[in-house]
Amino acid sequence: VTEAATTKKVFVKTYGCQMNVYDSQRIVETLAADGYAETATADDADLVVLNTCHIREKASEKVFSDIGRYAKAGANRPGASAPVIAVAGCVAQAEGAEIARRASSVGVIVGPQSYHRLPELVAEKARKPKAVVALDMPVADKFAKLPTRTRPRSPTAFLTVQEGCDKFCTFCVVPYTRGAEYSRPASQLIEEAKVLAGQGVRELTLLGQNVNAYRGAGPNGAALGLAGLLWQLARIDGLERLRYTTSHPNDMGDDLIHAHGEMPKLMPYLHLPFQSGSDRVLAAMNRNHTREVYLDLIAKLRAARPDLALSTDVIVGFPGETDDDFEDTLSLVEEVRFASSFSFKYSPRPGTPAASKADQVAEPVKAERLERLQTLLKQQQLAFNEQKAGRVIPVLWESRGKKDGVVIGKSPYLQTVEAWADASLIGSITETRIERGGPNGLYGVAVGRAAGTETQPPMHGVA
Ligand code: SAH
Ligand code: SF4
Ligand code: F3S
Repeated sequence: VTEAATTKKVFVKTYGCQMNVYDSQRIVETLAADGYAETATADDADLVVLNTCHIREKASEKVFSDIGRYAKAGANRPGASAPVIAVAGCVAQAEGAEIARRASSVGVIVGPQSYHRLPELVAEKARKPKAVVALDMPVADKFAKLPTRTRPRSPTAFLTVQEGCDKFCTFCVVPYTRGAEYSRPASQLIEEAKVLAGQGVRELTLLGQNVNAYRGAGPNGAALGLAGLLWQLARIDGLERLRYTTSHPNDMGDDLIHAHGEMPKLMPYLHLPFQSGSDRVLAAMNRNHTREVYLDLIAKLRAARPDLALSTDVIVGFPGETDDDFEDTLSLVEEVRFASSFSFKYSPRPGTPAASKADQVAEPVKAERLERLQTLLKQQQLAFNEQKAGRVIPVLWESRGKKDGVVIGKSPYLQTVEAWADASLIGSITETRIERGGPNGLYGVAVGRAAGTETQPPMHGVA
C-alpha cells in the first residue's frame, strides 16, 4: 500500500479575519495528528473545511454558494466519493441550525471554540446520516487540547492571546459568535511563541477581538496585561518583531502606550478602529467613548512614538447617520491622517440591536459616503507611503514575488515592500533603501547584505 493511498487529505478554505487564519492553521495541525495531509484544492480532498465569517452579509452568504460547489468536488475522482464537508467558524456558530436545514450536503458543523474536536466529529459523521453539530464554547478547553505548532511556512505568524468580546457594539455579531472574553495564560503563550521562534518565525502578531483587553494569568500567578505580556515575549531569542491587533480605544492603557516608545521589538504600527467621528453615532453604536477621547489617545500615542503608523476601521451608513455625522467622520480622518484603513458600509446583522432600527440609511447614500471616505483614506495611505521614499528602513523578507528575482517583505509600518534581491534573504531582516512609495506599498533595494547586482527597483504593482 502506497502512502498516497493511506493518507487522507483535507482542504481548508478561510474567510474573514486574521483569527480565522490562525484557527485554520490550528485546524490543519489538529487533523495532521489524525493522519490528514493538507491539499491545495478541493478536487482530491476527503474532507473540506470551510472556516467561515459572519461579520457582514456578503461574507456570510458566500458560504452557502460555496457549500454547493464543494459538495460536487471530488465526485469525479476515480473510485472516490464526494468529500465530507465541515462548516466551521462564525457562520457555523451563528447559523448552525439553518445550515443543517438548508444544506443537506454538510456533514459537520463546528463552532470556533470546538474545532479541536474535528477528528472525533468527522469519525462520528461516518457512522451517522445526519450532520454532526458541535457549538459549545469551552475556550480554555480548546487551547489546552490543541497539538503543538508545526511547520510555519513563513517568518511571520499569528498567535491568538485573547478571544471573544464583552463589548456588544450594537452592529456587531462577534460577541455572539466568539463568546465571552477569554485570555490565555501567559505561560501557554510564551511556550507557543518559543516553539514558533524555534521554527524560524521572526515576527509575531498577537491576536484578539479585544487584544488590548488581554488580562491573563502571568508566569508568577498574578494577572498580566497586554503590555506585560509583550515585555515577556520580547525576551524570546529569535523573535525580532511584535505586533498586536485588534484594539479597542477604551482598553488602550498608559503602560501599552508607553511600550510603543520603549520596546524596540514592538513595531511602530497600531490598528485602532474609531468606527465613526460623530459622538451621536458612537453612542448609538455603544462604543462607550467620544471623538475627543479617541483624538486624545492618538496624541498620546504620537507623543510616545512620533513615527507610529495608524490604521483603523470605519463604518458608514450606521442607522440614523446624517450628512453632518458623516462630515464628522471625514473631519476626524483629516485630523488623524491614517497610514492604512478598512472601511465598510453598515450591514444589518441578524440578532444585533442596530439591525432592527427603523432609521436604516438607504443603499445609494451608503455607497456615496463610502466612496468619499475611501478617496480620502487612499490619499492618506499614498502620502504615508511616499514619505518613506529616500529612507533606509529594516525590512523582514517573507516570500518570493511573482516576477523572478523579486522578493516581498514588510516594513516596520506594515507596508508591503518589493525589491530585486536574492531569495536567500527570505526569513531575514535587512536594511533597505526605499526608492518609491506607491498606493499599496514600497519599492526598494536591499542594502543590508550583498544580494546580487540589482540596481533599480521593480516598478510593477505590489501584489
Ligand atoms: N474586534 C475588532 C473588529 C471586529 S470586526 C474590533 O472590535 O475592533 C472588524 C470590523 O468590521 C469592525 O471594526 C467594524 O468596522 C466592521 N464591522 C463589524 N460589524 C459590521 C457591520 N454589521 N457592518 C459593517 N461593518 C461591520
Ligand atoms: Fe465587535 Fe465591538 Fe466587540 Fe469589536 S468591540 S468585536 S466591534 S462588539
Ligand atoms: Fe468574521 Fe468571526 Fe472574524 S465573524 S471577522 S471570522 S471573529
